[in-house]
Amino acid sequence: MALIAPSVLSADFNHLERDIEMLNQSQADWFHLDVMDGVFVPNISFGFPVIHAINKIAKKPLDVHLMIVQPEKFIRQFKDAGASTLSVHYEACPHLHRTIQQIKDNGMQAGVAINPHTPVSLLEDVLADIDLVCMMSVNPGFGGQKFIPQTYKKIEQLKQMIAKKNARTRIEIDGGVDLNNAPLLIKAGADVLVAGNTVFSSDDPEETIARLKQVQAISN
Ligand code: DX5
Ligand code: ZN
Repeated sequence: MALIAPSVLSADFNHLERDIEMLNQSQADWFHLDVMDGVFVPNISFGFPVIHAINKIAKKPLDVHLMIVQPEKFIRQFKDAGASTLSVHYEACPHLHRTIQQIKDNGMQAGVAINPHTPVSLLEDVLADIDLVCMMSVNPGFGGQKFIPQTYKKIEQLKQMIAKKNARTRIEIDGGVDLNNAPLLIKAGADVLVAGNTVFSSDDPEETIARLKQVQAISN
């Protein structure tokens, strides 16, 4: 069954504790935390103090998505802040193999995120080394954007590459995920669905998470 990772970027930061407790109680599997630096992406989100604070009350693994340049400078600090999985962008890492090893050496699951224009074939030589591919289905930087349909084809291609290598890498889809495209994403091969706006803009976020989870049960 696929995992649900609500994106805290869409939470109400005036009531962050309330929203984290809601996620604790819900059927969510991971907390997806988006870190943006205003350089790699045209937006700035939050950093270590906020992740530390979330980690104090979160009862589920922190899935940290770094949309920053030079992520290798901060790997230890994200571990100390509570990250379980740390994803770096392919486009931000000239020495990606080394960065992946550093993430693993620090006791975290290693993820690589790819922008919508980045072909999955570029992951060929690191695929067996990583735990997660965070496939962007919007251009990174903001919550609430429109899903890019080309993603389905990329998921299928990546799924085949993973099978061919006998790897255990999970495919995470990030951006514009909703109750309509979720069944199709799972059918294409998605293992983890990130959902920000769909969860937090709904009337009943906990129920929406349960419905996303249900979609997966039906599709499998
Ligand atoms: C976008 C972030 C996403 C975002 C998803 O740059 O990486 O995680 O929060 O939000 P929605 O689900 O609203 O597209
Ligand atoms: Zn993200």
